[in-house]
Amino acid sequence: SNLDYSSYLKGWIRTVPNWPQQGVMFRDITPLLQNPKTFRMLIDIYVHRYMTEKVDLVAGLDARGFIIGSVLAYELNVGFVPIRKKGKLPFTTVEEEYELEYGNAAVEMHTDACKPGDRVILIDDLVATGGTMMAGYKLLKRMGADVLEAAAIIELPELGGGQLVRDGGLDLFTVCSYK
Ligand code: PRP
Ligand code: ADE
Repeated sequence: SNLDYSSYLKGWIRTVPNWPQQGVMFRDITPLLQNPKTFRMLIDIYVHRYMTEKVDLVAGLDARGFIIGSVLAYELNVGFVPIRKKGKLPFTTVEEEYELEYGNAAVEMHTDACKPGDRVILIDDLVATGGTMMAGYKLLKRMGADVLEAAAIIELPELGGGQLVRDGGLDLFTVCSYK
């Protein structure tokens, strides 16, 4: 079941204390991605969850959301839209500012990246304060998209991001959580 997969996959996430700054427990997904079996198990959880839904697009958040989002889009046979850190996209964009566990930032999306009514899965690796996921959600809503669900690998409930997202009216699916 997904619960068994969840504890197994969690064993492939590495915790690096005090990175990138003192007090942050960094949850590093690179071991999970590096192992072909766990990478496939992870992607398959999302594929099985969304393959029976009518999905038009997967939108991935810069940068770790691109790694899993593009593979998910490919497997669902839909397009992929990057939501990028400010200043990276060349065409006309919409922009949302947000706060991070460590700093401030803004994300952008191309104005032609989705059409009103497009059914979108929004994906990132981790939800901490929820600022990044909410910024992505706001961009997609401003473009008139129908965001079916937000998905991530990891949720940090202590930081309240999962609750912020769900209270903001967006369903959030995560594979593991760290109390
Ligand atoms: C991390 C992570 C999420 C975000 C979560 O990205 O990959 O995108 O922070 O934090 P939040 O819930 O508090 O918004 P980061 O901005 O460090 O960038 P990266 O993916 O380029 O490493
Ligand atoms: N992004 C925000 N907080 C994080 C954490 N604790 N580990 C990995 N990525 C993060």
